[in-house]
Amino acid sequence: MKKVRIAVLCSGGGTNLQAILDACDCGKIKDGEVVLVVCDSAEAYALERAKKRGIETALFDKRDYPRAERERTILGSLAEHEIGLVVLAGFMTILSENFVCRYEGRIVNIHPALIPSFCGEGMYGLHVHEAVLKRGVKVTGATVHYVTEICDGGPIIEQKAVRVRRRDTPETLQKRVMREAEWIIYPKAIQKVCKILKEKEL
Ligand code: GRF
Repeated sequence: MKKVRIAVLCSGGGTNLQAILDACDCGKIKDGEVVLVVCDSAEAYALERAKKRGIETALFDKRDYPRAERERTILGSLAEHEIGLVVLAGFMTILSENFVCRYEGRIVNIHPALIPSFCGEGMYGLHVHEAVLKRGVKVTGATVHYVTEICDGGPIIEQKAVRVRRRDTPETLQKRVMREAEWIIYPKAIQKVCKILKEKEL
């Protein structure tokens, strides 16, 4: 049976993209394949990672495409590549309700904290880990969830906890959350969703 065609949308380093590609290579993701990587920044190292694997890339740089046009062209590209699952991996463009509704049940995101803590507007990148340290919680982690029109509010697919250490800085915590949680649960969640999508098609 055919695999689910996945597009990964990134803006930065693409370490989650890398974890997903590795999981496809070693069969941890067996019901889906990454066929397209979309970036909104020409500097995104994710582009290099995709090219190294021979995966098609589409660049809609924020400087060249105003938001509405960027979203329209991205939607066009996803349709053209017959994408079945949209994976947001550090994608810094806010997507409209129209976009999200079109891919309902077929769009996922990873957040570097245990939702519903430390999420919502303004909670991205290092801000999240700064807030975690400021509040003094002992456990943080990462969450993979479906994307809905509510920011970080969609149904949760996977979560993994990570202990906060006394000497952590936002940077050390960010790295450990990625290594111990994000790169593990994202491929796992994607396989889970691909399996659900394949079964729905039967
Ligand atoms: C990750 O921390 C992810 O949780 C967040 O953005 C970051 C992306 O990092 N949504 P990378 O580009 O995958 O390295």
